[in-house]
This record gives sequence, C-alpha cells and structure tokens, in this order.
Amino acid sequence: MTSTESSRRKYDQLAERYEEIFFYVADLGQRLVDFAGPVPGARVLDVGAGRGAVARAAVARGCAVTAVDASAGMVAHLAEDYPGMVVRQLDAAALDFPPGSFDLVTAGFVVQILDDPAAALAAMRRVLAPSGMVALSLETQSADRTKWLLDLTAEFFPGAGASAGPGPMTADALDTLLTEAGFTGLERTAVDAPRKLPDARAVWDWLGPRGLADSVRRLPPERAEQFRARFLAVAEAERTSDGIVLGFAATLHRAHAPH
Ligand SMILES: C[S@@+](CC[C@H](N)C(=O)[O-])C[C@H]1O[C@@H](n2cnc3c(N)ncnc32)[C@H](O)[C@@H]1O
Repeated sequence: MTSTESSRRKYDQLAERYEEIFFYVADLGQRLVDFAGPVPGARVLDVGAGRGAVARAAVARGCAVTAVDASAGMVAHLAEDYPGMVVRQLDAAALDFPPGSFDLVTAGFVVQILDDPAAALAAMRRVLAPSGMVALSLETQSADRTKWLLDLTAEFFPGAGASAGPGPMTADALDTLLTEAGFTGLERTAVDAPRKLPDARAVWDWLGPRGLADSVRRLPPERAEQFRARFLAVAEAERTSDGIVLGFAATLHRAHAPH
C-alpha cells in the first residue's frame, strides 16, 4: 500500500466524524478564507476539502466553489452536504482543470500531509488565473503535542515521537516551496485555537478517539492501567480556573501566481 493509499483510507475512516474530532478546522477554514479575501463571484478551488471547512466559508462569501479531495468518503459527504458545489475525487497533484480556471486556490491543512507537496503547488499554480491567489494553512502545533502530554507519552511509548523522515513541515519550508513553485508576494500570519477542557477525565475522553485509545490498547494491561492513572494525575495537576488547555497553532499563507 503506498502512503497515498494509506492516507486515503485514513481519511475515508475519519470522514464521518472528521470535524467533530478535529475541532479547529471549521474556525480555521473561515479564517483562511477571510485571510484570502475573495470577492463575491470569485472562482475558488478548494483542494483536500475534507468535510468542507474552507469551501463552505468561500460559498458564504458568494464565491463559485469547486471542492476536490482524494478520499471517496470525504467526497461522498461533500456532494451530499453541498449540492450546489462542484465536487470531484481528485489528487492534489493531478488537478486536470484547464489552465487559469480559478481566481483562488485554497488548501486547509493539506500540503503538509502530501507525498509530493511541490507537485501539488505546481498543479495549483497551473490552474490559477494570472495573478490569482493561493491560500494555505499549516498546522504548526497539534493539540496532542502539548508539553505535559508529550513528556508522558515519551515515558510510556519510547520512540513513538521519533521520525525517520525530515520531520513536520515548517512555515518557512512552506514559504520556500511556494517561492520555488513560482509564487510571489508571500504573506503569512500565525493563528491559534486552544482547546479548553474542564478536567482530566474530559481530556482523556477527548483524546481517546484521536489516537490515544489505539496507543493505550497496544500496552500490556498492567502498563495501560499505570498510564491511565498517571495521565489523569498529571492532567489534573495542569488544571487552572480555565480548566485544562491543549494548545493548537497554525500559520496561514497566501501568495500570487505570476501576472
Ligand atoms: C487534514 S484534512 C483537511 C480537510 C479540510 N481542508 C479542512 O481544513 O478541514 C486533509 C484532507 O486532504 C485530503 N487529502 C489527502 N491526501 C490528498 C491528496 N493527495 N490529494 C487530495 N486530497 C488529499 C484528505 O482526504 C483530507 O480530506
């Protein structure tokens, strides 16, 4: 199975509850479209549209939106939820629209998960009209990378955070890719969307479907019980009058295709 196939399967499985699990995408889809600022009637292509967080914000501004995604599950939901939208199952690197078809191409939290982000940026540039805009969001800190949680998982799951690859894409690396793809006038802004949960039990319940439960199931039963007890104690020690805050941060990038 190639990583593209495994990624497609992963998103097919997540499609049903995607925006419930990844609480921040709806808000950040709106913020990405606000950052891009398309005018009513602008032709917008949303790549890796998921359940439509970015696409529906563009529709709300009166844009003519086409949404594409590699996952059949996501595409089925998009077609059902947004009957007025053009929806296609398409890979980000194989955008087979005529050159210059769009005024704005968006991709919310997509470029960093692609096998070949440079190929996708080249495809986006090709389908953009002269001076058209690309607007991308990049996750720079995921909610499950909050320090106390990282420390605890490093103790119970040694090596789990290690990566043989080059590591997550940084905002600078994305800007370099945009420049190499021929985009100009780069601008970016940092945004955050902290998740506040009332107590340790709520954090446990919230992280369970986000991968924690699968990891814990792989531990021997006694160790799993130790982890749960430590998790609840450490999380509770983090509680303030605001509850327990898990950090999430991202950058929004925009740039122009050549004239
Ligand atoms: C992290 S989700 C983001 C979804 C949406 N943009 C949002 O902001 O909520 C990434 C999306 O990209 C899609 N995707 C993954 N690889 C892709 C590829 N090679 N081409 C097109 N879409 C892809 C996934 O199916 C998934 O819907």
